[in-house]
Amino acid sequence: MQERITRAAQVICQSKRTLALTGAGISVESGIPDFRSRGGLWERFDPIEYATIEAFQADPKKVWQMLEEVSVLLDQARPNPAHTGLARLQEMGLLQAIITQNIDNLHQEGGASRVIEYHGNAKTLFCLGCNQRYNANEIEGQRPPKCDCGKILKPNVVFFGEPIPRKALQESYDLASNCGVLLVLGTSGEVAPANTIPQTAKMAGATVIEINVEPTVLTNYLTDIFLQGKASEVMTQLMEEVETMVAQG
Ligand code: APR
Repeated sequence: MQERITRAAQVICQSKRTLALTGAGISVESGIPDFRSRGGLWERFDPIEYATIEAFQADPKKVWQMLEEVSVLLDQARPNPAHTGLARLQEMGLLQAIITQNIDNLHQEGGASRVIEYHGNAKTLFCLGCNQRYNANEIEGQRPPKCDCGKILKPNVVFFGEPIPRKALQESYDLASNCGVLLVLGTSGEVAPANTIPQTAKMAGATVIEINVEPTVLTNYLTDIFLQGKASEVMTQLMEEVETMVAQG
């Protein structure tokens, strides 16, 4: 493993165009369960019943049962060394941007500068009726949160059946098409169109480094350097190597 960590650090230090793609696995050590591992969110809430835009429009109160459980975890969650390690890479000029599928705001809270929120962010909500927007702290304690017009509010996150925000889609494609290294952390690679990002990067000639506790659909198919382990532990080791290499010049 150490040899692979060293190789990954070398690749990152030599490239000025490294891009990161993160998924729920990067926030598991911050106390937020992922979706598809054992004990993940979709084991307890069927995504067809709780995570599609149709389900929300049909019965927003029911969907808020799941959203309430998630928002309690989001409120308690703090960035872990994987989030702060990526932010440090950006500070060092070694990471252009972070494309995240997560809605937990932990990259920003961990000090990251350029974060592309592919699936939105749970810190803001809006009304499907009158489109009025709210910050999460404006509706503290209201469950389910309601708009002044009386309708139940929807978090500004992408439900299944909704489009990816156009700006996020375009920026992500442009970055993936031009990156030299793609660092993939904590995603199963199961969900489109986010899972096209590694393929786009690979076709552009990027070296793909994957950090995950277990192999994924990406690992044998396009990963060049697989670093198996918990995101915070592997990122800590990787950052030690990078800091040493940069210090040695
Ligand atoms: N460190 C590293 N990887 C981890 C850790 C950890 N501590 N814990 C779990 N993982 C890995 C799992 O092995 C899995 O491969 O993180 C991945 C999480 O996969 P998913 O639960 O499928 O989450 P994600 O890939 O982000 O899902 C994408 O699907 O349901 C939608 O909108 C939702 O954004 C989400 C999208």
